Amino acid sequence: MKLLVINGPNLNLLGIREPDIYGRQDYQALTALVKETCARFGIGVDLFQSNHEGAIVDRIQAALGQEDAIVINPAAYTHTSIAILDALKAVGLPAVEVHLSDVKSREPFRQISYAGMACEKTIIGKGFQGYVEAIEYLATQYGDGQSQP
Ligand code: DQA
Repeated sequence: MKLLVINGPNLNLLGIREPDIYGRQDYQALTALVKETCARFGIGVDLFQSNHEGAIVDRIQAALGQEDAIVINPAAYTHTSIAILDALKAVGLPAVEVHLSDVKSREPFRQISYAGMACEKTIIGKGFQGYVEAIEYLATQYGDGQSQP
């Protein structure tokens, strides 16, 4: 099984960007945790980060035949992008939405998630641990789910 983990705009600035909301660890630390977690479940992973909506749409489309499931934090595009929603629906791969912060307790404009409408699960407000839970969920549902010793 192979996962695609997508991070949207400004997540490349983790650690610098509003650390009281998004934490003090950087994007590299997130990618290391994602790789380590996937290795623990014996699954492959491709990571992608972009600040551009169309690039994210292109990468979701490219997942067809390449990866088996998607973990996505579309960042600000969560709340605006029907194109990302449509791309997720078009490829039809199982997807989990992750947000580092608790978007439900934030501004009104963060209350809608378009991408989430194509995801079977949403994990919010757990920081980096949210990615670990998303990987665990997909590995269990669609891989053999066996954590390696
Ligand atoms: C975010 C929440 C979004 O509202 C915001 O625009 C982000 C990050 C999160 O991970 O908490 O960039 O997706």
